[in-house]
Parts: sequence; C-alpha cells; structure tokens
Amino acid sequence: MTEYLTNESKRRWNEFADDYAQMTKKYGDLHKEILLTPNLLTLIGEVKDKTVLDAGCGEGYLSRLLAGNGATVTAVDFSERMIELAVERTTEEDIHYGQANLENLSEFTEGQFDAVVSNMVIQDVSNLSAALNELYRVLKIEGCFVFSILHPCFITPESRWEKDEQGEKLYWKVDDYFKEGQFEQRFGTKDRVFAFHRTVSTYINTLIKTGFTLEEVVEPKPSRDQIEKHPDFEEDLRKPDFFVFKVKK
Ligand SMILES: C[S@@+](CC[C@H](N)C(=O)[O-])C[C@H]1O[C@@H](n2cnc3c(N)ncnc32)[C@H](O)[C@@H]1O
Repeated sequence: MTEYLTNESKRRWNEFADDYAQMTKKYGDLHKEILLTPNLLTLIGEVKDKTVLDAGCGEGYLSRLLAGNGATVTAVDFSERMIELAVERTTEEDIHYGQANLENLSEFTEGQFDAVVSNMVIQDVSNLSAALNELYRVLKIEGCFVFSILHPCFITPESRWEKDEQGEKLYWKVDDYFKEGQFEQRFGTKDRVFAFHRTVSTYINTLIKTGFTLEEVVEPKPSRDQIEKHPDFEEDLRKPDFFVFKVKK
C-alpha cells in the first residue's frame, strides 16, 4: 500500500513541479520567506564548512541559501522534475543533487552528514518511521535534524475557515483530529498532491522511538513589522499553519 502511495505521490509532485517552482523565489514563497526560512536557518545554526543534507529539496532554494552560508550541501528529492529544476536554477553554488526517496537513502553512509534539514516534506512521506530511521542513520552523532511540517493540530483533512454570510472569517474549524491517514493538499496542477495527517503524539513518539532527542520546537508567527508590510498575514496570528522541530541524534 505504501509503495502505491509513494509512487502516486511522486507522480503528482512531478506533474506539479514546474508550477510549484514558479511560486518559489530566493527565500521561498511569501509564507516560507516570512514564517519558515528564518526559523529553519536560526535553528540549524552555523553551517560554514559543515556537510548538510536537504531532504526533499524541491527546486533547491534552501539548499542554495545553505550553500551561500558556507555549507557543503547534498540535496535529494524523489521527484525527478524537481531535481532537474533545482539543477537548472543552481548557477553559482556547488550543490550535489540526486533523486532519492527519503524512505531509502541507501546511497548515503551512516553518519555522513553534520546536519539534516527538511522543509515541508515530512508530512508528505507515506512511511514516517522508515524516513526518520534513514535520516537518523545518515546523521552524525550529536548532529541536528531540523524540519518543518504542516501544523498537525490545525491543518487536518477537513480543517477550514467557517465564514459568515458576508464571507468574513469567523473561526478556523478543525475536526477528526485523531483520524490519521493520507489526504489531498490544497494545491496541485491537475491532481492535488498528497499529505499524511498524523497527530502531534505520533510525530513526537516516532521521533523518540527512532532515537532522536527533542531540542526545540517553533510555531512560526509573523512579527508586527512583517504584518505592517504584508497585512494579509494578520490572520496568521489566529492559528499557526506550521510546526518546526529541532531534534538531535
Ligand atoms: C512542499 S515541497 C517542499 C520543497 C522544498 N523543501 C521547499 O521548501 O521548497 C515537498 C517536496 O517533497 C518532495 N517529497 C515528497 N515526498 C518525498 C519522499 N518520500 N522522498 C523525497 N522527496 C519527497 C516533493 O517532491 C516536493 O519537492
């Protein structure tokens, strides 16, 4: 079953890759630029002269930022089209790109990387334990793994704004939180891409079972300055869309 889901997920990401890449600028799309990229870079810390794996790199914007900060970056994605786009877009940095499913990173050796980063990918993997085990294996002892996901408490399969008759947003509705499983995200070119809803306890307990130690978590929210510049982000103070983990081997 997970093999079918992984193949179908990869097919959808390949189909969506060009449109997704179009939305991605130097620091990601606006949500990433404001909420995710600064938090990920802060949590990962100094990367100069470190070996970093960008797991599920997409078109590679974060890999390029890390390489620009002095890291030796290896970046993988299971979508061949994403990797083609990442290679095309990487004109100045020396990044080793490759196609790989995070559930099987057999081309990398145990303890190969000083740090691993994964931006908005882990909620997409069909076999969470397999992916976390592989990322743990390729990380050095004491190395950190920083990753962001859709917030498991708020972005659930049926979550949405409830609106009044004038279309004003009344509140964000969440239901069926404990029903884990595959669902379709809100974007995709023809077929919407997959994600897997899991509870917070599933994430934390799977991390612990894998051997990771929890170091820090962040629920990103915009600053007042950012809201002044981008007023639409006011609603991001009502509920977080993302959850960021820093764990250590
Ligand atoms: C939301 S995009 C994020 C891309 C990139 N990290 C970024 O921040 O722009 C999710 C990416 O994860 C990749 N992906 C999903 N499941 C994967 C898996 N099992 N193994 C490797 N890559 C995967 C997709 O192809 C896609 O490029």
